[in-house]
Amino acid sequence: MKTYIMAIDQGTTSTRAILFDHEKRIVAISQKETNLFYPQPGWVEQDANEIYLSVLAVCMDVVSKARISLKQIVSIGISNQRETTILWDKNTGLPVYHAIVWQSKQTNEICDQWKQKGYEPLIIEKTGMRIDPYFSASKIVWILDHVEGVREKAEKGDILFGTVDSWIVWKLTGQKVHITDVSNASRTLLFNIENCKWDKDLLELFHIPSCILPEIKPTSYHYGNTMSSIFLNEEIPICSVVGDQQAALFGQSCFKKGDVKNTYGTGGFMLMNTGDKIVHSNSGLVSTVAWKIGEQVTYALEGSIFVSGSLIKWLRDDLKIIQKASDTEIMATSVNSCNGLYIVPAFVGLGAPYWNDKCRASIFGLTFGTNQNHIARAALESMAFQSKDVLDAMVKDSGVTLSVIKVDGGAAANNFLLQFQSDILMCNIERGKINECTALGAAYLAGLCCSFWKKEDLNIELDRVFKPVRTKENVEQIYAGWKRAVHACMEF
Ligand code: G3P
Repeated sequence: MKTYIMAIDQGTTSTRAILFDHEKRIVAISQKETNLFYPQPGWVEQDANEIYLSVLAVCMDVVSKARISLKQIVSIGISNQRETTILWDKNTGLPVYHAIVWQSKQTNEICDQWKQKGYEPLIIEKTGMRIDPYFSASKIVWILDHVEGVREKAEKGDILFGTVDSWIVWKLTGQKVHITDVSNASRTLLFNIENCKWDKDLLELFHIPSCILPEIKPTSYHYGNTMSSIFLNEEIPICSVVGDQQAALFGQSCFKKGDVKNTYGTGGFMLMNTGDKIVHSNSGLVSTVAWKIGEQVTYALEGSIFVSGSLIKWLRDDLKIIQKASDTEIMATSVNSCNGLYIVPAFVGLGAPYWNDKCRASIFGLTFGTNQNHIARAALESMAFQSKDVLDAMVKDSGVTLSVIKVDGGAAANNFLLQFQSDILMCNIERGKINECTALGAAYLAGLCCSFWKKEDLNIELDRVFKPVRTKENVEQIYAGWKRAVHACMEF
C-alpha cells in the first residue's frame, strides 16, 4: 500500500491540504479561500470556526482528489499563519472573539503604552522581537480587556489561548491536546528565546494569566492523533506543527547557517538560518526560533514585510485592474519602466526594517501618462524593493554577504518579479521545482518524526536561476526613488 504525508498549510487568505508521496512529489492539492474582515480602518480579523472548517474541507477534498484511502496517510504536518490570536472557551469550544490577524492594528494603543513604560529593551532581549501590534501578546490583552467577562473567565481557568496551530490541533484531537511548537511560540512576545519557555516576567508585565497558554513542544513531534469521528474512524498522527515561514525555510532545505529564503505570501518574509546562535538585530529585523528537532534548537533572523501578495489581491478585488495574479506579469512587461511611479504598500503600516505602525499606503509619481500597466508593474517592483530593504539589514546584522536567495510562494511564479528582484538585490534568485515550500517543510518535519524520510533524503530541486542584468548605476537610481517614496509615506 502506497503511503503519504498530508500537509495542512493554513495561510492568511487560504487553507491548503497537500499530499506528498515518498518521492516528495505532490500527489494532490486542495485549496479553500478564507474570509478576512476589516471592521475598522487598520483592523483585520477572521472567523476561527471558518478556519477550522476550511481545514476539514481541504483534508477530505485532497484525499478524494487523490483517490486514496485515509488509511494511507501516515501522518499530518501543520504549517500556519503565525501570530494570529484566538481565545476560546474550553468548556463550550467556542471562540470568545474573532481571530485577530497578524496584520491587524487594533492594539496600537496598548503597544504605545508598553513603549512609553520603557518595556522595549527587556522585551527585545528576552524574546528577540520588538513591541509591535504584529505579535500576539497585545492581541491577547486586547481580547481579555475588551470582551466582557473574558478576563474573569480566563483567571478561573476557563479560557484557552492559541495561535492558529494550537486551535487546529485542539479541534482535530477532539479538544484534548492544547499545544504549540517553539517556532509559533516565539512569535507571541511571551516566549523566552534563550530557554525556550514561556517567560514568567513578561506574563506578569502584560497581566496575562499563564493558565491560558498551550504547552510548548518541539517542531517535529507526535503531539497526538486526530479524533476518530473526524476522519472516518482513522486516527491520524499529527507529527509536525510549524510557523509557515519557518516551514518554508525547512522546505527550501535551508539547513545550513547563512542559508536564506524569501517567501511571497500574503506578506513577504525573508529568513536566514543562524544555526544554534541567536543573532540580535541592530537593523530592524527580529530573531526567531526556526525549529526544534529532538533537543536541537535552530534560530533564524527574519525580515517580516506586512504586505506583499495582498497588494496583488487588492489590485484584483478592489481596484479590479487584473482578473488573476498572473495578469501582472504580462502587464508589467508590456511597459519598459514604471515612469517614476512608486507604490508603498503600507496598508497596515510598515514592518521590517521600518516598523512604522501609523503610516498608510501611498502612490507617488502619478502623471496623465500613468496607466494600469504601470500600476501593476509598480506593485511588483514594490515587493522586490521591500525585500532589498530587508536584505540590506540582514547583511549588516549577520556580516554575511549573500549571493543566492531561494524564493517560493505564490508570486514566485512571476518571472518579471524574480528577474527584477535579482537585479535590485544584485544576487542570484533560485526558484525550486516545488513552489509549495511551506507545505513541503511541514511535510518534511512530520515525515522525519514518523521515519517516513531521513534528513539526508530532504532537498529541493532547482527550476530556474535568475541572474542580475542591470547596471549598478541603474539599480542605485531606481532604489533611491523607492527610499524617497518610503520616507515621504512615513512623514505624511
Ligand atoms: O507572520 C505572518 C505570516 O506567518 C503570514 O504568512 O503566508 O499568510 O503570508 P502568509
